[in-house]
Amino acid sequence: MQLRAARTGALEGTLRVPGDKSISHRSLMFSALAVGESRIEGLLEGEDVLATAHALQKLGVEIARTGEGAWSVHGVGVGGLAEPADVLDMGNAGTGARLMMGLLAGHPFTSIMTGDGSLRSRPMARVMAPLARMGAAFTGRSGQRLPAAITGTRDLLPLAYQSPVASAQVKSAILLAGLHAKGETTVTEPLASRDHTERMLAHMGAAVASETGPDGALTVRITGRPELRPSSFLVPSDPSSAAFPVAAAAVTPGSRVLVQGVCVNPLRTGLFITLREMGAVITEQNQRSVGGEVVADLLVEGGELRGVDVPEGRAPSMIDEYPVLSVVASLARGTTRMRGLAELRVKESDRLAVMAEGLAACGATVEVENDDLIVHGSGGSALAGGVTVDARLDHRIAMSFLVLGGLADQPVEVLGAEAILTSFPGFVPLMNGLGARITEVGA
Ligand code: S3P
Repeated sequence: MQLRAARTGALEGTLRVPGDKSISHRSLMFSALAVGESRIEGLLEGEDVLATAHALQKLGVEIARTGEGAWSVHGVGVGGLAEPADVLDMGNAGTGARLMMGLLAGHPFTSIMTGDGSLRSRPMARVMAPLARMGAAFTGRSGQRLPAAITGTRDLLPLAYQSPVASAQVKSAILLAGLHAKGETTVTEPLASRDHTERMLAHMGAAVASETGPDGALTVRITGRPELRPSSFLVPSDPSSAAFPVAAAAVTPGSRVLVQGVCVNPLRTGLFITLREMGAVITEQNQRSVGGEVVADLLVEGGELRGVDVPEGRAPSMIDEYPVLSVVASLARGTTRMRGLAELRVKESDRLAVMAEGLAACGATVEVENDDLIVHGSGGSALAGGVTVDARLDHRIAMSFLVLGGLADQPVEVLGAEAILTSFPGFVPLMNGLGARITEVGA
């Protein structure tokens, strides 16, 4: 599908974006580990999460959709998954694939896992290596890429793992394997990544404890083989999806947009902090607790923004938001330097290279220096646009360039825009409801 975004004026309106992708994957997987029925409301019904649901069904878990965003999962207990009769296809989802490997590590059978062209190119050694130390065996393509065979064991060993990256996927995969091992497993990461796994498993009755060191490193401990309680999950709206209307409104003077019910867990809100530093007015209203997470309505008032220096230490809390931030930066007054973005190279696409190339094609002045992305803003003047960008199987690239099209002189077209369905079904009508002009080419 090819979409075209044309220049818009101020954006205005109230909207709610779909459920959080991280929490949606986890609510399905963790429900599968409890004995009995869990219910989920507000589940993101995007392709990534549906791939996780299908994989769990192949592993013997009964899962049913009972209404819009409402799902019921009959869990089989920790260690209770069954050998799948077919390949597990995780689609585009790194979270689905890596967390599932953690689960499979504790089961004494072999599964074959694959994914789409993007997922098959992403590094899996970051989870396979520690899980192998716990006793699981992996045979992947060269570079430990998918498709891969995973053979787990009932006798998984606990592990004390020092992760080289701040990655919630790595942390969660090991914690999930640790649930299946006897004794205590610990993971230390250099900086805290999103903590949904810890919060949700603790809520279900697992013994999970976290402590932050003076250098900002986070250590999480989990005790294996608990009996998890089935639960009711209410999935809040995804801040990484809210990022698109928020960023588009923030950079368009005169805009006034209210995004309701957004998860504002402090490990997810780096973009909102950065936009405020750039001069955007973003107010959190009606803060409340939903399903163990803090949510708020975000009121965004657009204006002229200035470039800022985004420190490396903020990256874990806004890792998926750099593509759209770089679009905003291209319109700001002055230079924005986003530091320490090595992890962007191993996302659904090489986001550092793809954003730099696409922004330059649209008329922005961009540099990549080591792992930093440097964008020299236009000071509010529209970029030229008038180009077609390939989404490269990456939903956030597709949505970022559609936001850019709304700010450019000439329309921007995005090839492969169906990638958006992995995380944000309804993106086009929601954005158009605010005043965006996104249409399908050739429809
Ligand atoms: C996610 C963690 C992040 C993020 C991804 C979702 C998760 O990846 O980019 O979209 O749900 O755990 P990393 O763990 O690789 O940083």
